[in-house]
Parts: sequence; structure tokens; C-alpha cells
Amino acid sequence: MDLYEYQARDLFEKYEVPVLAGIVADTPEEVRAAAEKIGGVVVVKAQVKTGGRGKAGGVKVAKTPDEAYEAAQAILGLDIKGHVVKRVMVAQGARIDKEYYFSVLLDRANRSYLSLCSVEGGMEIEELAVERPEALARVAVDPLQGIDKQKAVEIAQAAGFGEDLVDKVSDVFVKLFNVYKGEDATLVEVNPLVLTEEGDVIALDGKVSLDENADFRHPGHELLEDKAAADPLEAKAKANDLNYVKLDGEVGVIGNGAGLVMSTLDVVAYAGENHGGVKPANFLDIGGGASAEVMAAGLDVILGDPQVKSVFVNVFGGITACDAVAKGIVGALAELGSSASKPLVVRLDGNKVEEGRAILRDANHPLVTLAETMDEGADKAAELANA
Ligand SMILES: Nc1ncnc2c1ncn2[C@@H]1O[C@H](COP(=O)(O)OP(=O)(O)O)[C@@H](O)[C@H]1O
Ligand SMILES: [Mg+2]
Repeated sequence: MDLYEYQARDLFEKYEVPVLAGIVADTPEEVRAAAEKIGGVVVVKAQVKTGGRGKAGGVKVAKTPDEAYEAAQAILGLDIKGHVVKRVMVAQGARIDKEYYFSVLLDRANRSYLSLCSVEGGMEIEELAVERPEALARVAVDPLQGIDKQKAVEIAQAAGFGEDLVDKVSDVFVKLFNVYKGEDATLVEVNPLVLTEEGDVIALDGKVSLDENADFRHPGHELLEDKAAADPLEAKAKANDLNYVKLDGEVGVIGNGAGLVMSTLDVVAYAGENHGGVKPANFLDIGGGASAEVMAAGLDVILGDPQVKSVFVNVFGGITACDAVAKGIVGALAELGSSASKPLVVRLDGNKVEEGRAILRDANHPLVTLAETMDEGADKAAELANA
């Protein structure tokens, strides 16, 4: 889960990373009040989960509360790379001498952490990495050791900080690593980290991604979730404990077990090549217990996606036998009634497959087609989606 800048700022403050005052506001009036409260020069900043806000006109300096009001009028409602600004942060203005870059992130390929650091901050780091790779220090960080003072000094030196600054910035790196570790983040990025004219090192813009797998350790993280911005189908699936990922295609896919669902996506995409190029519409793993309730919740989520034209249910009966799954499908269709309106291709195999097929045959639901094999099922579902 990616956080908004103001949420990252709050986390930084909790870990004593030096930040400036910041107040969120949703209207120009609130912005004026926040600017009065902070006093002096402020910066009005769009709160959207994308970078490059400055270039897009989403970061404006205001010398007075009235100027802040005007800046808010310009920024609220602005479309930044497809994100409409609904909220801004009024931040205390910094007198910037230099801008730097620092991040620590999960390095999946090397099963490690990685810190990136540069004395040329402010610009987009992707650009810097391409145009002047030598200006970006990459320092591997052992997950068991983390960034202690010694490692932080190594990072600062690798980035080319002068001796006079190494001590100061390395203290901030240690604190930023505390955020990374303490919150189970997969990314903590500060761009820019600034040196002010007063000589202070301050995190001026923060980006934090949290690892949702560790949510159980952080009851507070749920409050950081932007429920209004979440995909409603993904939210519904989550509420039902289903593993659901929305994709762009037309064939809804339900299976049990992540491996089976992954291969079903491949087989459907392959079959789609013969049927107008239709593709899987989602990933949905209903897990081990394919009861009527779970199946109903899964079908409900998938049928709620207007892009879905047909559904392929591909289940291998194991501990949950095929007859239970078949009863689940029949029960789900009864429960959903007229809201189930798209054709369903069902392929069952494994434990009690004959009993399962018999149940579906007897139910004789007009929307359901039985398939013998996975390939046949995928082909039929792709054909129906393309009809
Ligand atoms: N509180 C602030 N005081 C002074 N300047 C700021 C402040 N916040 C941002 N800026 C300036 O605006 C630039 C862009 O802001 P930033 O928060 O990094 O947004 P983005 O990365 O989305 O463009 C920064 O590089 C900095 O020069
Ligand atoms: Mg930035």
C-alpha cells in the first residue's frame, strides 16, 4: 500500500526524522486557516499518489494566507497523471540551499535491501538513473544488520557528501531506516532531502510503501488505507477474504489454489488468441473451502465487473471435493438469482468429480456449460466472451 505524502510525513515525525510542519486541508478556506496557523511562507502541495507534482503545477509557494487560498483554488481539482486532487497539504516553507535524494527499498532480485542515494536530488530519480548513473550511489543493505550509523556513513560517502555533512545526513538515514523497519515498509524514499540555509537537513517530500503482508503486526495501518479510492470490487473481495486481482480482459476466472489460477490465466489467454484476442478479466483464488457462500461471494465479485463477458470456473477437488464445489455453484446461482446473467463454463476434476458433474447436470442451469478438460473449458469460455 502506497501512502500519501502527508501520511509519510506523519510517520517520519513519529520516528524523529526532521520534517516541517504540515496540515492537510480539503478546501481553500481550510488552506487559508492552516497557512495562518503555520505562519510565514508556506507551500501548498497536492496529495496524490504519483510523483512529479511540482512539474504538474501541484506544488505552489504562498507568501500570505490569501496567496495560499488562491494556490488551493488552482490545485484542488487538478488532474495530475490521472489523479484528481481532492486534498492538499499546507507545509511550512523551507529556505532550500541544496536538494538530495535518499531511499531504502526491498531488493527482491538479490533477496536483500538496497539504499539509493545522491547529492543531486529534486529531479525524478528514474531520469537521474538513466542520464547520470554515476551520480546515484547504490549500496546493498543486509536485512539482518540494517542501516546503523556505520552503514549510514558508508551510504553518505558513496553518494559523495562532503565530510562536513556526512555526520548530519547519516543520522537522518538511520532514522529513515527505523521507519522502514519499524513499519514493515518495502520503500521509504525522500526526494528531496534538503539542506536549508540555516544548515538543517530536512525530509521535504516522502514516499512510503507498506508491506500488506505485515498488516497483522500493525493494527494502525488499516487507518492509512484510502477506502474511497480503492477499487470497489477489490474491497468487496477483501471483505470476503478472497484473493482477487482485477485484470483488463473479458473472461472472469475462478479457481482454487494460486498455482491452478495462474495456469488458468495462461490457458485462457492462449485460447483467446483464437477468439478475437479475449483475455482473462481477473485472478480469483477461492482457496480450499469452496463452499456455496465462498463461491457466491466470488461469483458476485466477478459478475460485478462490467468488463466480464463470460466466467470460467476451474476447480480441482482435493480436501474440498467436487460435489461440494458443484453444490456451491448451484447454491451461488440460486442466491444471486437474476444478478447472475453471464455464461459460466465449469471444469471440475479430482476428488468426487463424477458426483460433482452429476449435480451440475441435474441442476441444468441455463447459464452453465460443463467442460471435460481445462483446455476445452478455456476455449469455450473465450468463445462465449467473444460472442
Ligand atoms: N516545504 C517546502 N518548502 C520549500 N520548497 C518545497 C517544499 N516542498 C517542496 N518544495 C519544492 O518543490 C519541489 C517539488 O516538491 P515535491 O514535494 O518533491 O513534489 P514532487 O516530487 O511530487 O514533484 C521540491 O523539489 C522543492 O524544491
Ligand atoms: Mg519529490
